[in-house]
This record gives sequence, C-alpha cells and structure tokens, in this order.
Amino acid sequence: MAAIQRSDEQAKLWKGSAGCAWVEAQELLDRTLQPFEDLLVEAIVATGARRVLDVGCGTGSTTRAVARALGAQGHCVGIDISEQMIDAARRLAGQDRTSAEFICADAQTHAFQPASFDLLMSRFGTMFFADPVAAFANLRRAGSADAALCSIVWRSPEENPFMTTAERAAAPLLPNLQARRADAPGQFGLADARRGRAILEESGWTEIDLRPIDVVCTLPESELIGYGTRFGPVGVALREADAQTRARVASAVRAAFDPYVQGADVRFTACCWMVRARR
Ligand SMILES: C[S@@+](CC[C@H](N)C(=O)[O-])C[C@H]1O[C@@H](n2cnc3c(N)ncnc32)[C@H](O)[C@@H]1O
Repeated sequence: MAAIQRSDEQAKLWKGSAGCAWVEAQELLDRTLQPFEDLLVEAIVATGARRVLDVGCGTGSTTRAVARALGAQGHCVGIDISEQMIDAARRLAGQDRTSAEFICADAQTHAFQPASFDLLMSRFGTMFFADPVAAFANLRRAGSADAALCSIVWRSPEENPFMTTAERAAAPLLPNLQARRADAPGQFGLADARRGRAILEESGWTEIDLRPIDVVCTLPESELIGYGTRFGPVGVALREADAQTRARVASAVRAAFDPYVQGADVRFTACCWMVRARR
C-alpha cells in the first residue's frame, strides 16, 4: 500500500529552499494558480461549511479567499510545515485584514482539537506527507462528524508535460538532477487515483470521489525563465551550479517552453484531481 517515506526529505525542502522559492515567487504563483482558488471557494461556499482548515496552505492565498467568502459567519485556518510560508501568510492576512489564522506545524502529526472543522480543503498541499495514511487519519480526526474533504492534487507527469519541461531540458546539463519517483511524496504523490483512493480508505474516509479537472493557467512570458529554473528538481540542482551552468540551463529551459508561449503569455493546461471525501 502507500509508501512511507523514511526520511523527512519533503519537510526539509519546504522548510528550506522550496519554501524560500515559493515565498519569493508568491505573487506569480498565486496569479497562476488563481483558477484553483476560485474552484475551491465556490465548492466550499456551496457546502455551507463554517469552520474550514486549509492543509499545506503555503502563503495562504486560498485560506484568505475562503475566510473572506465565509465572512463573519465562518472561520478559516491554514496549516503549513514551513515557517517562512506561514510568516508570509500572516503578513499578507494582516495587510488585507482578513480574519484567517495560521498554524506552523506538520499536518500529519499536529494535535488538532478533535472535530473542530466542518471542511478540510487544500490547493496542492496534501501530496507531500511522509506517511499519507497517518496524515489523512489525523486530518479526519480534526473533522466534525459529517466533515468533508475537498483537495486538489496533480494527475500524472505524463498528463502534465508543462510541469516537467524544465527538468527534461536541463537534464543533459545537470548530472545531479534528482529523478522523480512514482508514488513517492512530492508533487505527483497522489497522481495515481487507485493509490489515492486506497490511502483515503485506509485512513477512514468514506464517499471518496476523484474527479478529473483540466484547468487552463497562464503566466507572463517575462517570468518564464525564473519560473522554469526556480522550482522542483531544477531549482534544487541549480543551487550548487556555477554561473556558466546556470546560464546554459536558463537558455535550454526557456527554449523548451516555446510551445506554450502565446505572445506575452504562457498558457498550459493543469490536469488535476478534485478529491472529495466524507468523514
Ligand atoms: C505546492 S505548495 C502549495 C501551497 C498552497 N496551498 C498554495 O496553493 O499556494 C505545498 C505546501 O504544502 C506544505 N506542506 C508540505 N508538507 C506538509 C506537511 N506535512 N504539513 C503541512 N504542510 C505541508 C508546504 O510547506 C507547502 O507550503
């Protein structure tokens, strides 16, 4: 069944370089992923839930959007393992005076008050758990008797070639580039629907439904090199690269994204699962 990651590799990444990269690019990422935030807000408002937990909330854009949509009738809390992400989330919530609250902790093990949320949601924050069954069981305990889960996760790398364009282009230039491991914690950790369903069943969730959603996302062409070289395995490998290698990788990565460029914009289709379940 679900592979348990023995090391805390993902936690280390998010508390370190990946967290820094996301905070630096927060505005760009939030604009690019806005369609998913809109989907979640719409889905959550439709359920009538009042107490919502945002799992792996990052810098908190979705947490704040849900808090605004719920208004004074509701409450939205974001949890994230990365201190720099949570610092940014608190700062941004302070700036726009939203009532969202944030916890810096591992959602897999955090001692939530039992039955304290009507709905647990996530935009790409539930694929990184070292032990996914333990994590989803812990989240389930945080849910009230009839609580719902509503989480967006990536489908396979094959269905999302945009997401692996940079590493395919950079591979010949970066011998230390880490290969993606199927079913391991990471961006595509819940891509396999059968595995995702089994993890949720084993952790006690019922009425499990994984629905494919294909969402067009855009970002400015001017941000493409930064985007392609900052995140994922390329971002990690480039930390140790010299200036000449960095320049060669940037050029190869930019060229590889050509098929997605339309004038001043870059457009790609994000192929994901909308995962729903009931406590
Ligand atoms: C791909 S980012 C998504 C962030 C945010 N949901 C968004 O859409 O902007 C994944 C987030 O999950 C967080 N994360 C990873 N493992 C976690 C864990 N065990 N507990 C809580 N958060 C975790 C990371 O720190 C990161 O902020």
